[in-house]
Order: sequence, then C-alpha cells, then structure tokens
Amino acid sequence: MKKGLSALILAAGKGTRFKSDKIKVLHPLMGKSMLQWVVDSIQKLGPDRIHIVVGYQKDLVQESLTGQNIDFVFQKKQLGTAHAVLAAHAALKKEADRDLLIMNGDLPLIRGETLKPLLRNHREKGNSLTFLTTDLDDPTGFGRVMLSEDKIFRIIEEKDATPAQRKEKEINVGIYLFRIKDLLKGLSQVSNKNKKGEYYLTDMIEILSRNGRKVGKYKTRNTEEIVGVNDRYELARAIDVLRLRKIKSLTERGVTVYDPGSTWIDHDVKVGRDTVIYPSVILEGESVIGSHCTLYPYVHMIDTRVGKRVKLLSSSMIEQSVIQDDARVGPFTHLRPNTIIRQGAKVGNFVEMKNTDFGRHSKAGHLSYLGDADIQEDVNIGAGTITCNYDGARKSRTKIESGAFIGSGTELVAPVKIGKRAYVGAGSTITKDVSPEALAVSRSRQQEKPDWAKRKRKK
Ligand code: UD1
Ligand code: CA
Repeated sequence: MKKGLSALILAAGKGTRFKSDKIKVLHPLMGKSMLQWVVDSIQKLGPDRIHIVVGYQKDLVQESLTGQNIDFVFQKKQLGTAHAVLAAHAALKKEADRDLLIMNGDLPLIRGETLKPLLRNHREKGNSLTFLTTDLDDPTGFGRVMLSEDKIFRIIEEKDATPAQRKEKEINVGIYLFRIKDLLKGLSQVSNKNKKGEYYLTDMIEILSRNGRKVGKYKTRNTEEIVGVNDRYELARAIDVLRLRKIKSLTERGVTVYDPGSTWIDHDVKVGRDTVIYPSVILEGESVIGSHCTLYPYVHMIDTRVGKRVKLLSSSMIEQSVIQDDARVGPFTHLRPNTIIRQGAKVGNFVEMKNTDFGRHSKAGHLSYLGDADIQEDVNIGAGTITCNYDGARKSRTKIESGAFIGSGTELVAPVKIGKRAYVGAGSTITKDVSPEALAVSRSRQQEKPDWAKRKRKK
C-alpha cells in the first residue's frame, strides 16, 4: 500500500525584517503570494493533506487560500519552530501512519522537482527523519549541519555556534520529512535552552537519533531555490529568479523575448508560439496571448485575452479587455475594462476605449474617446471623435451600425444611434439618431466676410 503524505507549512511568524504592515508570507511575487508558491510546490508531491500553522494576521492568511482545502492550525505565541509543530499535534495524531513534509513558509523558490527526490530518499532509506541540506559559500544566518563526537547529526543555529562552527558550509534548508508517529513522540523532549530561548525543531535531529531512530540528510545542489526570503531585498532577488524562470519557460515553448532583463510576465500569463516580445513589456494577471503576435516596447497589459497575429504597438495600456485575431492596437492606446476589439480592427494613436465593443475591421486611428459604445463592423471613426457617455448622473450607450462613417471632431451625445452606412459630417454634435444611409451634419454654416482682414488692418 502507498504510504500517505501530509504537509505542514510554518507561517505563524510576522516576518519582522520586512518592516511591513502585512505578514511576510502574503507579499506577492510575480502575481502570486509567497505562501501560495510554497503550497503549489508541495501540491506537486500530491499530499493527502496540507496543514498551515498560522498566528500573526491569521484571518488574512486563511482568506488568501480559501477554497484550497487546507487545514489551518493556530499558534498563539511564536515560541519556536518545534512549538509551531506542536500546535498541529491534534491534527497530526490522526495521521500518525503518514510521512510529514515540514517546510518554512518563506521559501517561494523551492520547486516540486527539488522536493520529490527528498521524499524518495526518505522512503527508500526507511528514515524516521530526513532533512534537506545544501552547501553555501556564505552560510551566514542558517543553522549549520554538524556531527557530534559520537557521529550523530545535529544542527547548530547561527546564534548558538562557536566561531569555528560558523565556518561550516553545509546548512539546514528548513525542509524536513518526518515519520509522524516518531515526530510526535520526540517533540515533548525539545527544550528551549538556547540563546534565543525558543523551541527548535532542528533539535529533533539529535533527539530522534538518540531515541534509536534512523535519521538521514539529503543534500541538494539547487542552492538558488533554498534562499529564504527574510527582508525586502531578498524579496526583490527572489522575484528576479521567478521572473527569469517564467521567461525561460516561455522561450522553451517558442516565444521570443528580446530582453529578459526588462520584461515582466506574471506567473499565470500564457503566450503562444512565435509571438515576439520587445523590451520593457509588462504582462500581468491572467492574460492570455495567442501565437504570432508582436508586442512592442512599453505595452502594459492586465488580465486581457489576445488572439493570433495581433500587433500591439508601443506604449499601450490594456486592461481586462479582449483583442481578436489580426487586430492592431497602439501606439499610445488605452483600453479600459470590458473592451472588445474584434477581428482585424485598428485602434491607433491616443485612442481611449472603455466598455466598448469595436467591430470587425473598424478603424479608430487617432485621438478619440469611445466609452460605453457598440460599434459594428467596417466603421470609420474620424480623428477626435468623442462619445459623450456621461451626463453627470447616468452612463448611456452609443450605437454605430456597420459601414458608418463618423467625420473628424464629432461629439456623439449618448444615448444615440447612427444607422447603417450613414455619414456624420466632421465637427458635428450629434444628439439625435441618424437614419441608415443618411448624412447628418450639425454645425453652423460657414460665413465669409470679404476683405475683413484688410479693413481691420487699416483701422
Ligand atoms: C530556521 C532553522 C534553521 C534553518 C533556517 C532556514 C530552526 C530553529 N532553525 O531558522 O536551522 O537554517 O530555518 O531558513 O528551525 N515559525 C512559526 N512559529 C514559530 C517560529 C517560527 O510559525 O514559533 C515559522 C516562521 O514564520 C517561519 C519559519 O517558521 O516561516 C522559520 O522560522 P524562523 O524563526 O525564521 O527560523 P530561522 O531562524 O530562519
Ligand atoms: Ca527564516
């Protein structure tokens, strides 16, 4: 029978060195909280249950993970990592025949691929406890892995270490696999007689060995992943690692990224093959971009779906919108939420749209505001067209039917409808519906006073 696996994440501490009003593990990295990264890596092992020890801002932490079938245990005071595990005692007792992965909540870079061999090793060796280690050139701050005189593993924390012990380069990562039965038996033997006055989970290594249990270590070479995030500079560096990891995975799927250094693509964004991304592009949230698109510099996109062969020209901001195949948007376009640019449409310089459906092959080339509008196919919107969609109290819609031509500098005072293939003369202020095939002009007639300028000069 397959042995069960549970996981326990330690996330009760505030993370004082972050100097934040928000608990450390809820800070985002590439669109995903630190804790969510840890949970997602653990999920790759297919655990039967995940427990999280919460304390500081526990309601916020729980809320951030709703709907993910996670068990939360509460540690009122943070008296050390062993004390945190003790908080889960009742829950773990019911799972005594399983293995338990224990992991600090501040290790967002750990991948499932690094956890898997640890679990395999633990089970192959039949260990009671296996802890993950690695060699670091600068081990400052970490617990050091030592052998006692009678050849038993132990961890000496930085604060408790002698200068000679501090030279040891093999460190304790903070990820452990326990046989739950043995863990629960040993926990009561942990004392807090150390420099910090805390109950150290790391003491379990020596305790289980002395109880005659089999304890082993597993060394990983993936040192980049084990760096804990303790302050905001480490956060910035972790973000950089995740950012480049994302870009690498996109390039492996056939996306061209010209300048990984200046490109930001959130974790959940999807990009199709043969799409080309120029420098300084930012793609956030749950954006999906199809194949053969080109994204020119300074495109900033949030939660947007883009079809195939779309061109997004420089310096465009696109939020919660849809852009269909073969459309062209930008430069300097702002698409606000709920906008659809349909197939083959063109939206150009200094055009803003909001909550607007812009039809197939329609064009709005320059300097326009189109809000709350339904614009059908093959419509031409002249430069400087403005939908007056807001009267100070209510928003109203503008409807423009297929093939209509809106002359430059037109104001469309909503609610208003322009019929099929109708024309609106340039500079009009349209307040009434225009019939299909008609021409509407609403501007005062031009007058001319001959020699007016000459007379003015003579005065
Ligand atoms: C711990 C290890 C150290 C290891 C390092 C790796 C111990 C005693 N030391 O040190 O050997 O090299 O991780 O990063 O375990 N937490 C609680 N409740 C508590 C205390 C801590 O939930 O009462 C949580 C924290 O929120 C944090 C994690 O446990 O996520 C680690 O605690 P921390 O105090 O940061 O341990 P380190 O000093 O980093
Ligand atoms: Ca830490």
